[in-house]
Amino acid sequence: MDEQTARREIVNIGRLLYERSYVVSSDGNVSVRLDDGRIVATPTMMCKGRMTEDALAVTDADGKPLGNRKPSSELAMHLLIYHERPDVMAVCHAHPPHGTAFAVAGLAIDQPILSEVILTLGCVPLAAYGTPSTDELTEAMRPLVKHHNALLMANHGAVAYGSDLWQAFDRLETLEHTARIAILARMLGGSKNLPADAIEKLINVREAAGYLGESARCQACGYLHETQLSCASGDRPAATDYYERTATNGSGKISLTREELVELLSQAVNRGES
Ligand code: 13P
Repeated sequence: MDEQTARREIVNIGRLLYERSYVVSSDGNVSVRLDDGRIVATPTMMCKGRMTEDALAVTDADGKPLGNRKPSSELAMHLLIYHERPDVMAVCHAHPPHGTAFAVAGLAIDQPILSEVILTLGCVPLAAYGTPSTDELTEAMRPLVKHHNALLMANHGAVAYGSDLWQAFDRLETLEHTARIAILARMLGGSKNLPADAIEKLINVREAAGYLGESARCQACGYLHETQLSCASGDRPAATDYYERTATNGSGKISLTREELVELLSQAVNRGES
């Protein structure tokens, strides 16, 4: 994508994020990676609903500003995603209210309740809290970026990414829509998870259709436990690593299945023996 098109699309997406209340005030940030590796990003501290094309910042691939506009204070998060995911060309970070409610409650969006979400997005894990704009945040996100197309950031918000800006936005919108449906279903007495065989069929369909590749199977989440699909060894964050980083709520409690507890205990025993 050329720089002028990227500027125009970022302004359009910024307006949509604001109109849909995914951001208020100067919340959120959006970026596009150009074919030559430069990044076009929203400037820091500017309302995304009122941006103009000339207000955007351009940096090199390492985030060094090229020009006099100061990019988002969260650019390191965007650079991390571009680094970990060569297929990603655009990133959208916002604070959509229902998705962010999950992040504030210490919950991932990882229950297999909607067939279309399994097909097109996969589960959305929760990265542990890290101070915005610091390494704390990027380190909490790092192990999750490779296997997911959207993440929640505890007590902060959500980020989604894709091969272009519209795909990144669509994923953010799906995240928010799913969170909203999940909350409504809870108010109606609780949602019913899809059974393992239905999930397995959906995963086969999404891989055959090219919606999501095999790497998206490596999810430290509910789907995996439902399907028994094995993930590629080595790529998945160690269970202890994952659960230390995520899924804690304000009281410090975590919930585990029996299988996860056994895995954690055996890792602890193995560490003790070595
Ligand atoms: P910036 O204005 O620096 O992009 O920060 C906004 C934000 O949402 C931080 O989480």
